[in-house]
Amino acid sequence: MKGHLYLVGFMGSGKSTVGPILAEQLGRTFLDLDDLIEDAAKMEIFRIFDLRGEAHFRELETRMLAEVQDREPAVVALGGGAFSQAANRGLIFRSGIAVTLRIPPDLAWQRSTEMDNRPLARDRRQFEALYRKRQPDYDLADLKIGVSGRSPEQICQVIRDRLETVRRIPGSSGA
Ligand code: S3P
Repeated sequence: MKGHLYLVGFMGSGKSTVGPILAEQLGRTFLDLDDLIEDAAKMEIFRIFDLRGEAHFRELETRMLAEVQDREPAVVALGGGAFSQAANRGLIFRSGIAVTLRIPPDLAWQRSTEMDNRPLARDRRQFEALYRKRQPDYDLADLKIGVSGRSPEQICQVIRDRLETVRRIPGSSGA
């Protein structure tokens, strides 16, 4: 497989848990875009949101996504909103394939509120509205895998099995 493998999906879908396991199995590096943003900004994501606002975070996110284009092919976990920016999707489809981890909203809420550090998981109604709004974006990914009832290892197995079915070559248009 050429290019990066991007893990896409709503908050709590398990991108940062599945990512390192999958990367190891594929013999690749794992990159977590949110971690890279925090390292570069020397600030946690929720503080970036609180101090600078979401629009500023989205700029940092797009900038970091551009920076990972120069890295060797990796497994890259994206924050839940990264794939909803059309410009980001353009970069992603040019440089790799996108795999959505699908999670039901109740489980997403439960997992996302286990720690009190997600700025967009503070109000349940807003969280669910965002969930609904983003589903059409997540559907644009090359592969969609349900995570309910599957362990991280099982999810990796399904991804690896289905990778062969992806016909699109990075660089050709996805959506
Ligand atoms: C966001 C998801 C977060 C993080 C930021 C914004 C979103 O990442 O990027 O809080 O817009 O859904 P996770 O999906 O890893 O929680």
